[in-house]
Amino acid sequence: MSLPTASHVRQQFLDFFASKGHHIVPSAPIVVKDDPTLLFINSGMAPFKDYFLGNKPAPYKRIADTQKCLRVSGKHNDLEEVGYDTYHHTMFEMLGNWSFGDYFKTDAIAWAWELLTDVFKLEKDRLYVTYFEGDQADGTAADTETQRLWRQYTTDDRILPGNKKDNFWEMGDTGPCGPCTEIHIDLRSEEERAQKPGRELVNADHPQVVEIWNNVFMEFQRLADKSLVKLPEQSVDTGMGFERLMMAVSGVKSNYDTDVFQPLIQFIANEAGIQYHGTAPATVNDQPATENEKTDIAIRVIADHIRTISFAISDGQLPSNVKAGYVIRRILRRAVRYAFSSLGFKQPFLYKLVPVLADQMAGIFPELKQQTQFVQRVVEEEEIAFLKTLENGLRRLDALEDAARQNGNRIDGKTAFELSDTFGFPLDLTALIAREKGLTVDEEGFKKELEQQKSRSRNAQETEQSDWTVVSPSDEQPAFVGYDLDEAPAKILRYRKTTAKGKTEYQVVLDQTPFYAESGGQIGDTGYLTSPLSKVRVLDTKKENDLIVHTVLELPQDLDADFSAKIDHARRELIRKNHTATHLLQATLREVIGSHVQQKGSLVNDKLLRFDFSHFTKVTEDQLRQIERLVNQRIRQQIPLDERRNVPIAEAKNLGAMALFGEKYGEFVRVITFDKEYSVELCGGTHVRGTGEIGFFKITSESAVGAGVRRIEAVTGETAEAYVDQQLDLLNQVREALGNPQHLLPGIQKQTEEIAALRKQLEQFELQSLSQQKDQLAAQVKPLNGVNFLAAQVQVSSADGLKTLAYQLRQTVENLVLVLGADIEGKPQLAVMLADEIAQAGKLNATTLVRELAKEIQGGGGGQPFFATAGGKNVAGLGAAIGKAEALVEKSISA
Ligand code: ALA
Repeated sequence: MSLPTASHVRQQFLDFFASKGHHIVPSAPIVVKDDPTLLFINSGMAPFKDYFLGNKPAPYKRIADTQKCLRVSGKHNDLEEVGYDTYHHTMFEMLGNWSFGDYFKTDAIAWAWELLTDVFKLEKDRLYVTYFEGDQADGTAADTETQRLWRQYTTDDRILPGNKKDNFWEMGDTGPCGPCTEIHIDLRSEEERAQKPGRELVNADHPQVVEIWNNVFMEFQRLADKSLVKLPEQSVDTGMGFERLMMAVSGVKSNYDTDVFQPLIQFIANEAGIQYHGTAPATVNDQPATENEKTDIAIRVIADHIRTISFAISDGQLPSNVKAGYVIRRILRRAVRYAFSSLGFKQPFLYKLVPVLADQMAGIFPELKQQTQFVQRVVEEEEIAFLKTLENGLRRLDALEDAARQNGNRIDGKTAFELSDTFGFPLDLTALIAREKGLTVDEEGFKKELEQQKSRSRNAQETEQSDWTVVSPSDEQPAFVGYDLDEAPAKILRYRKTTAKGKTEYQVVLDQTPFYAESGGQIGDTGYLTSPLSKVRVLDTKKENDLIVHTVLELPQDLDADFSAKIDHARRELIRKNHTATHLLQATLREVIGSHVQQKGSLVNDKLLRFDFSHFTKVTEDQLRQIERLVNQRIRQQIPLDERRNVPIAEAKNLGAMALFGEKYGEFVRVITFDKEYSVELCGGTHVRGTGEIGFFKITSESAVGAGVRRIEAVTGETAEAYVDQQLDLLNQVREALGNPQHLLPGIQKQTEEIAALRKQLEQFELQSLSQQKDQLAAQVKPLNGVNFLAAQVQVSSADGLKTLAYQLRQTVENLVLVLGADIEGKPQLAVMLADEIAQAGKLNATTLVRELAKEIQGGGGGQPFFATAGGKNVAGLGAAIGKAEALVEKSISA
C-alpha cells in the first residue's frame, strides 16, 4: 500500500480552512526571541500570544497554518519519551486554526468534525471527544456547552468529561488559557476494540489510542499570582499533531510508519546496515527487551532528533553551552549517543540526514533547503567534538576501573557525576559500559550530586516578577515614536516589580515612547522619565513580545503624572552609526566574499558592532582591507537613508530586501535602504540619515565563533578614530623604543641583524673562554683514591656552556670525577661528570651525587649515571656544594 504523502495531507488541512475564510500564514521560526517565558515555540498559538492577550490587534480574525513546534523544555517537555514510544516527538508540526474574537465553540467543533470525517474520512466510531468538567479551586465551571455541541455529531458514550490537567489548556505558568475539547482516535484492530472499549483508554498513554486534535476556547489569562482573569475577547486556538494525523489517515500504528519519517528511517537503517522492525517497548519506562527493540529505539531517536536539530539551526539557534543553544546541543548529543552505542556509528553520521530532510520539507519549510550545507557543517562539527568527548570518557572509565574494583565493583556517584558534568559523558552510557566491565554505578549518588548542582544554579538565577499593576487603563496599542523623536510626552500605563539576585527593579510600560527596545541585535535605549515631581533613570529597554518595557531602579512618586520620556541622545547617535555600518558591512561582505553570506547574529551598541555570518574559511587580510575600503567609500558617498514603514512583506521582498532566516516577520515590515542597488534590509533598528554621518569605519577583529560561522567586530566614527590613534601611539612607542630610526622597518631589520651578529660573536668568545678555562682546570686535577678528581666553580653564561666545559674536560683528563658549579645570571647550577669506566664500576653515580650536592643550593636535578646536572635557588650555597664534593667522592670510592 502506498502511503498518503505528507505534503498532500498538510495541503488538505490548509485548503479546508482557507475555504472557511481563514488567512493562511507561514510557520513562525521555531526559535523564540523577545519572550522571556519561552525558549522555543511550543505550540501553534505561541506566535499569536499577543493577539490573545490583547497586546496587539490580530491582522486577520481567522488564521490557519502549520507551525514548527518544539517540546523539550519548560511546561511541555516530552524528551525522555521520544524514541521509546511511537507517538511523541521533540519537534513536530502543529496544524492550527484560530479565531481572534470571531467564531467560537459552535463553528470550531463543527469544522473539526467535518474535516476529520468528511475530508480525511476517519471512521466516526473510532473518534472520542472530551470536555472540561470544571475546577473548584480555579472557580471554573463545567463546559456543558461543548458537551451539548458534540451531541449533534456523536453519541454520549464517546463524549467524555476531563479534568483540569487534560481539559484546561495553558500556555505556560502564566499567559492565555481556557477550557478545551480534545479529539482522540482509537487505531486498534477490530478484535482489540471488541475486547475493550476505546473510551477506557482515552488519556491512558495507549500508543494507538491517542489525542490528535485539541480545540482550546481561550477566555482567561493566568497571572503570576496563579489567579485567572477574563480576556477581553473569546478566541479559538486549535492544534492538531500533524504526525499523528498522518498515522490516522495512513492507517498505520506508529507515527514513524508514515511518509513523514519513513525516508529518514530508511536512510538510517541503510547506513547502519540493519533493518527497521518497528518494534517498541510496551511502556516508555521498559528497557528494550531485544536487540531489534534496541536498534528500533535508536533509529526513532535519530529520525526524530535530526528534525529538531536541523530546524533549530536553520532558524538561527546554534548549539552552545547556554539556554536554548544548550537544549539543542543536548538533543544532538542524545542522538549521537544512540547512534554510537546502539547502531555502532563511531564516525559523524547525523549530518548526512540533513539533505534527506531538507528535500522532504522543501515545499513547506524552504529555509532548510536553502541552508543545507551550513546546517550540515554545524552538525558535523558538533558530532566530531562529542565523539571525541565520548572517546575521552571511555578512556577515563578505563582508568577508573581499578578504583571501582576496590570500591566493591562500583563506580561511585561523585565520579559518575564528574564524568557527565566535566567530560560530557552521560550517565546511561557510563552505566552501559560499567555493565560490560562487570561494574555497577551508584545512580542514587549521581542523582544526589545532580540535585545539589541544580539547586546551586537555581539559587544563583532566581528571578521573581510581580503581575502588572495598571496605572492608566488603555485599549490603545502603546506606540513607539523613537524613529522620529528623542523625547515625547508619556503616561505610565502599568508597572511591575522584579527581583533577581537580591536586586529589586521596576518595569514600566508607557502609552508612547521614544525608547528603542533591544531587538534585532541593537541594544535598548537609556535615558530619563521626568515629571513635575520626579526624575528617574531608565536603565534599559527591552521587548516582551510586543510590549516595550522600561527598566527603572525606582518608581516615580507621581505615577499618574504627565511624564516626559527622553532618551540619551548622544548614546543613540553612536548606536545609529554602528547599526547602519552593520548594514553596509553585510552588503559589502556579500559583494567581496560571496552571496552565501547569511547573518547569524549581530550586536549593535554604542561602542562597537559585531556581525556573525555563515562562511567556512577565515576572511583574509586582503579581503578585510577591501571590505573596509568599500564601506568607507560608501560612507563618503553620503548615501541618504530611505526608510519605508508598513511595506507589505511581498512588496519588500520584491525590492530585494534581505530577510533573515529565523526572524518572525509580520504582514507589514519596515525596509531600510541605502542605495537600492546596494543595501536593502528588513529592519526595525535606528539608522543615520545618511551614510556620511558614520564618518569612518574600521574593522578591529575577525575570528571564528563556531562551525561555519565567522565574526567581524568593527568600530565607527569617533571610536574608530580613537582606535586608529591608539594603534598609531603604539607604533610611535615602538619607534621610540628602537631609538627613532628614520625608517621603521629597515630599522627593525637592522637591529635584528645586529643582534644575530652579536650573538654569534658572543658564542665565539664563550668558546674561547671555555677552552682557556678547560686548560686551567685540567692543571688543577688531583689524584684521589685512584681517580682524577676536580671540583671547581667556573664562569659560564649558560647551562649549555657548563655542559660543554664538562665534556671537554672529560676528553682531556682520563679517569675523571668532575664537579663544576656556576652562577648563571644569579641562579646556581651544578654538573657532575664521570669517566665511563668509573660510572660503569657503579660505586659512584652522577645523578646520586648531584642530588646530594644540590641540597646546598636548595635545588634538585638528575640525569644519567655518568652525567647529571642540578639547578637551585641558593646561589650562596655553591661554595659549600663544591666544598663537600671531595669528601663524598672519597667516601663512596672507599666504601
Ligand atoms: N494550544 C493548544 C495545544 O497546544 C491547541 O494543544
